[in-house]
Amino acid sequence: MGRLLFFSFVSIFSFLATFSEVVITQHHVTAFPLSTDSRWIVDENGQRVKLACVNWVSHLEVMVAEGLSKQPMDAISKRILSMGFNCVRLTWPVFLVTNDTLGSLTARQSFQIHGLLESISGIQANNPSIIDLSLLDVYQAVVSSLGDNNVMVILDNHISKPGWCCSNSDGNGFFGDQYFDPDVWITGLTRMASMFKGVPNVVGMSLRNELRGPKQNVNDWYRYMQKGAEAVHSANPDVIVILSGLNYDKDLSFLRNRPGCFLGVAAELDFDWALWTLVGSYYLRQGVVGMNEYYGVLDSNWREARNPTFLQQISALQSPFRGPGLSEANPHKVIFHPSTGLCVLRKSMLEPLRLGPCTKSEAWNYTPQKILSVKGTYFCLQTDDLAKPAKLGIICTDSNSKWETISDSKMHLSSKASNGTPVCLDVDSNNTIVANTCKCLSKDNTCDPQNQWFKLVNSTRSSTMK
Ligand SMILES: *[C@@H]1O[C@H](CO)[C@@H](O)[C@H](O)[C@H]1NC(C)=O
Ligand SMILES: *[C@@H]1O[C@H](CO)[C@@H](O)[C@H](O)[C@H]1NC(C)=O
Ligand SMILES: *[C@@H]1O[C@H](CO)[C@@H](O)[C@H](O)[C@H]1NC(C)=O
Repeated sequence: MGRLLFFSFVSIFSFLATFSEVVITQHHVTAFPLSTDSRWIVDENGQRVKLACVNWVSHLEVMVAEGLSKQPMDAISKRILSMGFNCVRLTWPVFLVTNDTLGSLTARQSFQIHGLLESISGIQANNPSIIDLSLLDVYQAVVSSLGDNNVMVILDNHISKPGWCCSNSDGNGFFGDQYFDPDVWITGLTRMASMFKGVPNVVGMSLRNELRGPKQNVNDWYRYMQKGAEAVHSANPDVIVILSGLNYDKDLSFLRNRPGCFLGVAAELDFDWALWTLVGSYYLRQGVVGMNEYYGVLDSNWREARNPTFLQQISALQSPFRGPGLSEANPHKVIFHPSTGLCVLRKSMLEPLRLGPCTKSEAWNYTPQKILSVKGTYFCLQTDDLAKPAKLGIICTDSNSKWETISDSKMHLSSKASNGTPVCLDVDSNNTIVANTCKCLSKDNTCDPQNQWFKLVNSTRSSTMK
C-alpha cells in the first residue's frame, strides 16, 4: 500500500520562464524558453513539456546529493533518463547558501564532521573529482551532470536547517518558525537563482517544500510567496516558479487509501509531477548511517530499479496525453488501467482486446449514449457472456454496448452481459479484457477493486493505429 506516498505534489500555480537553449528529451526536442499556456508548460515552439520528475535528495545534514558514494554521478543521471524521467527535483537547504561557513565546507569535511568515513572512500572510488570541492560546487556539479544528460532540474528549497524533513514542529514549517526567517529565505532564493542564471537545464525553482505547522496562514502565504517569486525572478527571470500550498502542500490524505485511484486521477488531469524519491539509501538520515529508503526508485546500491513494476505503472504518466503542441485534430479517450499503467488495445482484429502500452492504445470515442467506439470505425466495445473476453461489435444499440462509470470511485466500467447480468470490465491473468461480476461495490474494506479500475483519459496523442 501507499504508492501515493511516493509522490510529492508539485503544485504549479504560476510559472514564467525565458530561455534560449535546447534540451533533447526522450520524446522530442525541447526548445527553451519554457513558459506557460493556461495550465500547461510549453517550450518556445509552443509544444507542451510535461515535467516527469524524480526527487533527488541533497538537503540532509551532509548537504551532498545522496548516492554519490555508490555510483558515479554520470551513471545516476543516465539511469534517471533511462527510467523515463525527464527532470529532477534537486533539494537544497537554505543554510547551504546563506551560511558561508557551511557552503564553503568541502564534501570531505562535511562527511568528516558527521563521522562518515566510509562514505568518503565511496566518493573517492565513484566520484573522486568532487571530494575536495565545496558543498556549493558539488551541488553545481550534480546540476551540470544532469544537464550533460539532458535532464531538466527544478531547484527545490526543501528546508532551512539541513536535515530530514518534515514535521509540524521541526522549526522549518512556516514563515516565522525557529529556522524559517523570511528574510534569510529570500536571500537564499536570490543567491540560488543568481547562481544558476544562464544554466539552461535549470528550468524551475520551487520556493519551499510543504509549508505547514501552527503558524501557517493565508495572509503570510500571499505576502511571502509573492516576495519569494519576485526575488527569484529579479535574479533570474528564466526559471519557472513553483509554489507549495499549505498543509504540506495539499491535503491529499484521502488519496492514501486509494493509490490506484491516485494514478487514475494523475492520468485524467495529466498533471506535471515529481516522484518521491530517487534515493536508494542515505549517507546519514535521522542519525542512521546508510539508511535504506524504501520509497526509493533505486535500490540501496543505486544500481537497479527497486521495483520495475512500479516504473511500468507510472510510465504512461511520463509523457503528455494532451496539451499544446500535441495534435488537437484527434481528441479521443484512452482506457487506462491504473494498477498496471497499461491501456486497452487490440493486437489484431482476430485477437481479443488486451492491455498494452498506452503509446499503442486504441483511440476511443465515448458518446453521450455511453458507447465506447473505436474512432474512425463502426466498432464498439461489447460484453459477451460473463467471464468471457469483451469484444468489438458493430451493432451498438443493445445494453451490452452501454458502459457506465459506477461505484464511489467512478472507476468501474459497467455494462450488461448478453443475458442481462450486470458486469464490469476486468483483466484476466493474461492481460485479456474480460467482463466479470463487479467487485467491491459495497463497503467492504477487505475487498481490492483495483483490477476492475479503469479511467477514460482525454488524449490527443497521435494514435499508432492502423
Ligand atoms: C553557520 O553554521 C555553523 C555550523 O553549523 C554555525 O555554527 C553558525 O552559527 C552558523 N552561522 C549562522 C550565521 O547561522
Ligand atoms: C492464459 O494463457 C495461457 C496460454 O495461452 C492459457 O493456457 C490460460 O488458460 C490463459 N489464462 C486465462 C485466464 O485465460
Ligand atoms: C475531457 O474531455 C471532455 C470533452 O471534451 C471534457 O468535457 C472534459 O472536461 C475533459 N476532462 C478533463 C479531465 O479535462
